[in-house]
Amino acid sequence: MSYPYQIKSVDQYNAAYEKSVKDPEGFWGEVAANFYWRKKWDKVLEWNFKKPTIKWFGGGKLNITENCIDRHLDTLGNTPAIIWESNDPEEHHRVLTYRDLHAKVVQFANVLKNNGVKKGDRVCIYMGMVPELAIAVLACARIGAIHSVVFGGFSAQSIADRLQDAKAEFVVTMDGAFRGNKEIPLKSVIDDALVQCPFVKRVIVLTRTRTAVSMIKGRDVWWEDEIRIVETQGNPDCPAEEMDAEDMLFILYTSGSTGKPKGVVHTCGGYMVYTNYSFVNVFQYQPGDVHFCTADIGWITGHSYIVYGPLSAGATSLMFEGIPTWPNAGRFWDIVDKYKVNVLYTAPTAIRSLMGFGLDPVKDHKLDSLKVLGTVGEPINEEAWHWYDEHIGKKKCPIVDTWWQTETGGILISNLAGVTPAKPAHATLPLPGVQPILVDENGKEVTGNSVSGNLCIKFPWPGMLRTTYGDHERCRQNYFATYDNLYFTGDGCLRDEVGNYRITGRVDDVLNVSGHRIGTAEVENAINMHAGVVESAVVGYPHDIKGQGIYAFVIYQGTHGDDTLARQDITKTVSRIIGAIAKPDKIQFVSGLPKTRSGKIMRRILRKIAEGEIDKLGDTSTLLDPAVVNEIANGRL
Ligand code: WT7
Repeated sequence: MSYPYQIKSVDQYNAAYEKSVKDPEGFWGEVAANFYWRKKWDKVLEWNFKKPTIKWFGGGKLNITENCIDRHLDTLGNTPAIIWESNDPEEHHRVLTYRDLHAKVVQFANVLKNNGVKKGDRVCIYMGMVPELAIAVLACARIGAIHSVVFGGFSAQSIADRLQDAKAEFVVTMDGAFRGNKEIPLKSVIDDALVQCPFVKRVIVLTRTRTAVSMIKGRDVWWEDEIRIVETQGNPDCPAEEMDAEDMLFILYTSGSTGKPKGVVHTCGGYMVYTNYSFVNVFQYQPGDVHFCTADIGWITGHSYIVYGPLSAGATSLMFEGIPTWPNAGRFWDIVDKYKVNVLYTAPTAIRSLMGFGLDPVKDHKLDSLKVLGTVGEPINEEAWHWYDEHIGKKKCPIVDTWWQTETGGILISNLAGVTPAKPAHATLPLPGVQPILVDENGKEVTGNSVSGNLCIKFPWPGMLRTTYGDHERCRQNYFATYDNLYFTGDGCLRDEVGNYRITGRVDDVLNVSGHRIGTAEVENAINMHAGVVESAVVGYPHDIKGQGIYAFVIYQGTHGDDTLARQDITKTVSRIIGAIAKPDKIQFVSGLPKTRSGKIMRRILRKIAEGEIDKLGDTSTLLDPAVVNEIANGRL
């Protein structure tokens, strides 16, 4: 595979950027010409941010799996597409070449068809990090079914909410998943979710942990049995469904500042072009490189940079089932040496947690295959950046600090590894095609350098979200209504003296805990479900490892046990409603919450208290009950 659109110098970057702004249709049309289209597009771009409507490559026909698999078969048939490392280092690893992957995807696509899945149907995938997860995702795409992958850490209630929102009638799961020394009972969680979802017709269950599970006649079937049925049918092929460029490819739920998580929708053509383009350019992928993205496919990072970006580029993508600290904190480094990993892409929270183990787990490793390091998910602090640079990259590997979001589909702001300069803790410059703009509170553009503002994007890029599933108005409200004619990211941002961007974190009520996005309102709703809770307010506070921790102020009138038990009960409730990732780190019981006279909770004050900046509370005189602030500040945990 060659990548004629791979940028190799600063001059080429400048030229590409300029062209992408002056002639976006010409620019993206040229990039898109490197893919396999059943029918070429009629028009590269049609857009209107007010509605919003965004159409890339309209009229074009394709199937993304033909681009991710079939078109590589002649040249890369024997090249590893997916290398899989098991949770247990003693268990044999697996390698799927492009030819193997093709066979497995086609087979499972036929399983889906046999089970009644049709083009446009939604399929919820709730699995651990095994190759079959990627296979299930691609098999959906093969037949034009819309996948909705739900991270294995979410609760039954969260799954039920997502199944209902997407009206998904099909589920693919496994008996259980291995993660470190734990076993996650995935099928059992699905069973709990399905009590609320009688419309689910079929659950396909992969065997992994061999834990006992309930199997309901007429609804639940084993993956392996279904594969055998396909084998006996003797029809190994499954022609790819012809999709319109703007047909839905997948839904991925993510948290916002209000209400329940929303289903971000990505479509086939633009998402394919953008994930590939950003993959090839940001990481400077070279044929033969082993790309190791440590994310879970349950998040957008896994969708874009384990599955679609790498595979569409004919790359070798390493998939890891386990966690960085099991059986010990050297696990990532073992994997890097074992498979001669060239690109390592991980999250600041993982780096900070591994830093905490000192250099012992690193020192017996060569790490000399590494060429490029990447980070994603949250702002990286300079200390972690330098540790990564010195001890993992040995000061020889460029670090790409990649800023993007579930909604953006792919990386929007990042240096290009070894091509454009890195700057610690800065995402640096926009990719070609990306036009960032900073605005102040009133929506007025902040021009010039050495400034800060709210980060917006003023022109469409192919990977951007198209809608939120089943509720287009919510999409408009959330992203396109805050500022006229701009996509609002929800992030605050600085632009340094030479124009580098540094993303400082969310300016809305969205938290970023260990790189996972959680809405404060969502956590509050979950806490409020507890029978003894009268009211609650949740804010983030700086956390050494997680980036942000969850701080909950709770008015509690329960009678069950002491405060410690009450806190545990509340935590358990949150785990049940959302999942363990949303558990509050601190729960402070209070007698009241600071509210304005109109009854609005003053989060600004609670945030300051949680951050320990009690001397910076500002004006509290307009509060309904100013005395409550002192009480809360004095009781701070
Ligand atoms: C939010 C999006 C996109 C992949 C994983 C997260 C924060 C992401 C960076 C970065 C500073 C970052 C932002 C963004 N974020 N990357 N390199 N520097 N902040 O996706 O769950 O949709 O979260 O993550 O706050 O809005 P997500």
